[in-house]
Amino acid sequence: MMSADQNGLITKVGPKTPGGALMRHYWQPAALVDELEGDRKVVPVRLLSEDLVLFVSGQDENGAKTYGLLRRDCPHRGADLAYGRVEQGGLRCAFHGWKFDADGNCLDTPAEPIGSRLCANIKQPAYKAVAKSGIIWAWMGQGDAPEFPELDCFAAPDTHVFAFKGLWECNWLQALEVGIDPAHASFLHRFFHDEDTKDAYGKQFRAASAGSDLPMTMVLREYDRPIINVENTEYGLRLIALREIDEERTHVRVTNQVFPHGFAIPLSTEMTITQWHVPVDDNNCYWYAIFVSYTKPVEKEKMRAQRMAMHEGPMYRSRRNKSNEYGFDPREQEEETYTGMGFDINVHDQWAVESLGATQDRTREHLGTSDKGIIAYRRMLREQIKRVQEGETPMMVFDKRTRKSVQGPATMDGIGPTRGWELFWMEVDVRRRRNAPWDVPVPADIAEGTAHIVIQD
Ligand SMILES: [Fe+2]
Repeated sequence: MMSADQNGLITKVGPKTPGGALMRHYWQPAALVDELEGDRKVVPVRLLSEDLVLFVSGQDENGAKTYGLLRRDCPHRGADLAYGRVEQGGLRCAFHGWKFDADGNCLDTPAEPIGSRLCANIKQPAYKAVAKSGIIWAWMGQGDAPEFPELDCFAAPDTHVFAFKGLWECNWLQALEVGIDPAHASFLHRFFHDEDTKDAYGKQFRAASAGSDLPMTMVLREYDRPIINVENTEYGLRLIALREIDEERTHVRVTNQVFPHGFAIPLSTEMTITQWHVPVDDNNCYWYAIFVSYTKPVEKEKMRAQRMAMHEGPMYRSRRNKSNEYGFDPREQEEETYTGMGFDINVHDQWAVESLGATQDRTREHLGTSDKGIIAYRRMLREQIKRVQEGETPMMVFDKRTRKSVQGPATMDGIGPTRGWELFWMEVDVRRRRNAPWDVPVPADIAEGTAHIVIQD
C-alpha cells in the first residue's frame, strides 16, 4: 500500500510535476501519421496535460511531410489554432489571420498596419515533431532531442510495421500495468472453448502455442498460476512467465517493459507489438502500438480496417466502452468468456484498466506475488523520477554514440522443455531474427545465450 502523495508522484504528468519532468525526457507519440494523410492538415493534440496543435508544415528534401507542433491557443486573443488554415510554411489562425511557422515564429499579422513590428515580439511555444514507424513523435523537453533507440519497431522498414492507437479513459500508469501483469491473461482473457481462429483481430490468445498443438486458450485456462521471473534490464524489465504443463513441457512467454511507458510483447510467431501508454493528461491516455512483422510485409489496409471497425474517429475511442457496459452479456459470461464482453482482448483490457477509476486509488490496493512486475516497475519509476529531480539524465535517453546500446527486445511465446527453457526462449527469438527478410538487430546477450535470468520463488 502507498500514500496518496506517493500515488500522485508516480501518476501525475503535468508540466510542473516530477513525473511530468521525467516524461519530458522522452519522445512522446503525438498522433498517427494516418491522421494527417487525408484532407485534414491540422489536428488538436493533448499530451502530458498540454493543449497543442499538430500540422503539416511542408516537405523535406525527399518529399516526405514535415510537421509543426504548437501551443493550441493563438497568442493574439486565444482562438483555437486547431481550426487554423494550413498554408505553405505555416499555420494561420482563422480569427485574424496571424500566421506561425513550425518553430512558433510569427510570420504575419495581416490586420495590423503596413510596416507593423508586432510580429517580432510574438513567439508561440513550439515543439519538434517527427514521423517514425507510422507515428508522429513529439519532443517536449529542454535542449536537444535524444536519439531513438535501435528497437525492432524503429529498425524495421515501413513495409513491416503498422501503427494504431486507442483512447483509454484512465491514468496512463494503470494502462501500462496491465501489460506487465502476466497472470491476468488466465482470467480476464479466458475463453471456455478452444477453436482455431488465429487470424481474427483481437483474438491472439486463440492460436495454437508455438512448438505444440495445444491451443493457447487451453494453456492459459488450465495453468493459471504462472511462475513469473522479473529482471531489470537496460531498457526496463524482462518478464518471463512459465506455465509448467508436465515434466517435459513448459509454456514460456517472454514480454518486456520498455521504459518509460511502453511494453513489447509477442503477438504471434511472426509479429510483436510494442505499445506505449501515453498520458493525455492525468485521467486519460492513448495506447499507441507498433506491430512489427519478422516475415512477410504487414497488410496495413486490412489491419487498419479491422481496428477502425472497433474505434470511432477522430478520438479513436473504442466503440465498446463504459457508456455501453463494454457490450457486457451475462449469458456470454456464463457460457463463452470470463468477462462476457466479447472476444476482443483489447476490450477486456480496456474494461480492466478503466474500472480502476480515473486514477486508481493505490492506498487501497493489496499486491500479491503475481504483481511482481508491477512492483519492480514502480520501484524503477520512482528511481528515475528521483534521478531527474537530482538533475541527472534518466535511463533510456540516448545520443548518437549510445543509441545502439539497447536492441530488440526479445519476445517469444511457445512451449519448450521444462528443463532447458532458459536457453530455449533465446533460441526461438534469435532464429526469428536471423530468418527475417530485413536486417533485425540481434541483442548480443540473446545471440550468445547469456542473457541473465533471475529465478525467484
Ligand atoms: Fe490483457
